[in-house]
Amino acid sequence: MVIIAPFDICINLQFLKILVLGLGYVGTANAVLLAQHNDVVCYDLNQDRIQQINSKISPIEDREVSEYLAEKKLSLKGVDQFPSSKQFDFVVIATPTNYDPDTNYFDTSSVESCIKQLDQINSKATVIIRSTLPVGFVEGIQNKYPKQEIIFVPEFLREGRALHDTPFGQQKLTKLTLDRGCEHMVPVQ
Ligand SMILES: NC(=O)c1ccc[n+]([C@@H]2O[C@H](COP(=O)([O-])OP(=O)(O)OC[C@H]3O[C@@H](n4cnc5c(N)ncnc54)[C@H](O)[C@@H]3O)[C@@H](O)[C@H]2O)c1
Repeated sequence: MVIIAPFDICINLQFLKILVLGLGYVGTANAVLLAQHNDVVCYDLNQDRIQQINSKISPIEDREVSEYLAEKKLSLKGVDQFPSSKQFDFVVIATPTNYDPDTNYFDTSSVESCIKQLDQINSKATVIIRSTLPVGFVEGIQNKYPKQEIIFVPEFLREGRALHDTPFGQQKLTKLTLDRGCEHMVPVQ
């Protein structure tokens, strides 16, 4: 069930500290768009991708991402360790959740591992999961980590058009009053 919860606080995503976990199609597009108006730190298990970001080279095949990295003024930094700092306002999780046809399940272990690490550093950031998730996952993980504020905002983008199709950047993100234990979708305006 997806519940669109009532609006609580409207925050314009500007000059916030945001951590992006996973620098694939989804994470890179989110990081680049958000880094126009916020301080964005990103982390990936793949060190090559971090180096590429820090060298202003796109780790994904996307013309617009390459152009933004080369031409725009972005506050974007890749780090080679999972940050120990808990000074983030938001954490965007965009790690893989591949579907396993043998078990008939999505492998959500990378998302779970990210949330576990955030909990270990006592993170107070709102966690926004952009990875594809099975129904019921958010409820389960929210119950497991009650101190974390977890929101599911599914990503819809086309290959090669990641930046173009990602809504962050031009738009406001709405922070919701969390009714914990439910699936959530954040309306973007
Ligand atoms: N690509 C799309 O068009 C698209 C569209 C909608 C939804 N999604 C969903 O978004 C999620 C990410 O997709 P993608 O295409 O960006 O994946 P991707 O495979 O392109 O990139 C995922 C990145 O996450 C990194 N990673 C893996 N485990 C990690 C961890 N524990 N910590 C940090 N980094 C880690 C990998 O090294 C990789 O760079 C998936 O759940 C996918 O189903 C993708």
